[in-house]
Amino acid sequence: LQHTARFAPGEASAEPLDLTVRMRRNRRADWARRMVRENVITTDDLIWPIFVMDGDKARQPVAPMPGVERLSVDQAVREAVRAAQLTIPCIAIFPYTDPSLRDANGSEALNSDNLVCRAVRAIKKEVPDIGILCDVALDPYTSHGHDGLLRDDGVILNDETVDVLVRQALVQAEAGCDIIAPSDMMDGRVGAIREGLDAAKLSDVSIMAYAAKYASAFYGPFRDAVGSSKTLNGDKRTYQMDPANTDEALREVALDIEEGADMIMVKPGMPYLDICARVKDAFGMPTFAYQVSGEYAMIMAAANNGWLDGERAMMESLMAFKRAGCDGILTYFAPRVAEKLRDIK
Ligand code: PBG
Repeated sequence: LQHTARFAPGEASAEPLDLTVRMRRNRRADWARRMVRENVITTDDLIWPIFVMDGDKARQPVAPMPGVERLSVDQAVREAVRAAQLTIPCIAIFPYTDPSLRDANGSEALNSDNLVCRAVRAIKKEVPDIGILCDVALDPYTSHGHDGLLRDDGVILNDETVDVLVRQALVQAEAGCDIIAPSDMMDGRVGAIREGLDAAKLSDVSIMAYAAKYASAFYGPFRDAVGSSKTLNGDKRTYQMDPANTDEALREVALDIEEGADMIMVKPGMPYLDICARVKDAFGMPTFAYQVSGEYAMIMAAANNGWLDGERAMMESLMAFKRAGCDGILTYFAPRVAEKLRDIK
């Protein structure tokens, strides 16, 4: 059947519809759209995750994350300077640990001179006013790629792991890290870390709990970046959450708040906006989403193929987090977004 237009284009309708409310009035011009806009993105909403590696003046592309590189510490300092100039409030540091330094217990995590600690000290020295967030979990340091201690029968030990995580957190906090972000999903780790920090007179160090962290396929490119993808034995489903669950996320968040978390994170981001919204509504806590490596990779892949407008998709994806109630977003797009926001001013 062929559709027949009631009016030829350009021919005015004789009978206007009798509408009291016309939603398009508020959309008809840029000034009007700006005036009624409910959410905005600013550079204050951004946390920028960066990858560090050994070496000097060295940068290595991360293949599945176009535009993202592993950086030697001196280069990480340069990027931190740039982040501060762009008024990005905080950067997150993830290490690519040399395979020769990985072992079953992730013992390099406790080395106060490991890559992360060196990067934190170097950045704090040059850029004292930028916030630094460090992940707490053993996966960049273990030969098996798990976030915790692995028993021979394949079980990830909880309480023994928490013990090590507390020590990892202390090492990072002593190096100058401002926010400890446990991403391991062991039970009881937030409380134990809080207690450990306080006992070490590090009460000013904050905790951003990866409270609702799902066992997700979207972490793939990150595992390439930190070099744990080839070594990972099995999967992380006995500690990270089942993507099918929502109520469980609220229980996780409630527990982490009770244990002393200052801020809450939901991860991944875009496929979990319902969780962001529910968590923010239920607890009114500072709530952050991690737009993870796979989300970044998807947008970049499509953009680089000419399949979508990458810039617009980037901004729209971040606006979605704000709309869901997030106070901020960890995103690999952070410097590009900050540059864009600066240029529009
Ligand atoms: C480590 C950790 C992961 C990410 C952040 N911290 C990977 C994982 O849990 O396997 C993923 C971040 C990303 O995909 O960008 N526990």
